[in-house]
Amino acid sequence: MTVLGLARVWALVCSAGWGWVVAQTPVSVPEPLSLASAERGKALLLQRQDSGCVLCHQVQGLPAGGALGPSLVGLAERSTKAQARERIADARRFNPQTIMPAYFSTEGLNKVANPYKGQTILTAQGLEDILSYLFLPTTGTP
Ligand code: HEC
Repeated sequence: MTVLGLARVWALVCSAGWGWVVAQTPVSVPEPLSLASAERGKALLLQRQDSGCVLCHQVQGLPAGGALGPSLVGLAERSTKAQARERIADARRFNPQTIMPAYFSTEGLNKVANPYKGQTILTAQGLEDILSYLFLPTTGTP
């Protein structure tokens, strides 16, 4: 066999080997949500522009909440995290006439400005961060 022929065989062996290695590499899995952060949740709750929660709710540890919705102080005593998650995601499931925005739904919303079409108000991460703050062990003082 010529040197060139040997090189070809070697190249074939290598590429076959490489192909096997590539085939064994697992497909990439999406990054899991990072751990929920009560600090980020607190900041989100306070934001009047994006979340607007404090426009309608009193929230433990935050100043000057609105009164259009029930106070969220002591929420953990009357609601599970799962219930609160559903409520924040789409309050219409509990009360079709609610004035509370559906924060994690894109369905049946009216008058959505173009840049926001098809987007939820909160990200999944933002929703978990907010829950993390609302369900912090209470300190006893609102
Ligand atoms: C426009 C006012 C408004 C805004 C803004 C609003 N809510 Fe509400 N929310 C309400 C009302 C009113 C209710 C009572 C139930 C109903 O009418 O749907 C409620 C109910 C709730 C409940 C259930 C409370 C309970 O006692 O069980 C939770 C939790 C909640 N809201 C969280 C939030 C969070 C978190 C935000 C921000 C991401 C938010 N809300 C923004 C008006 C609002």
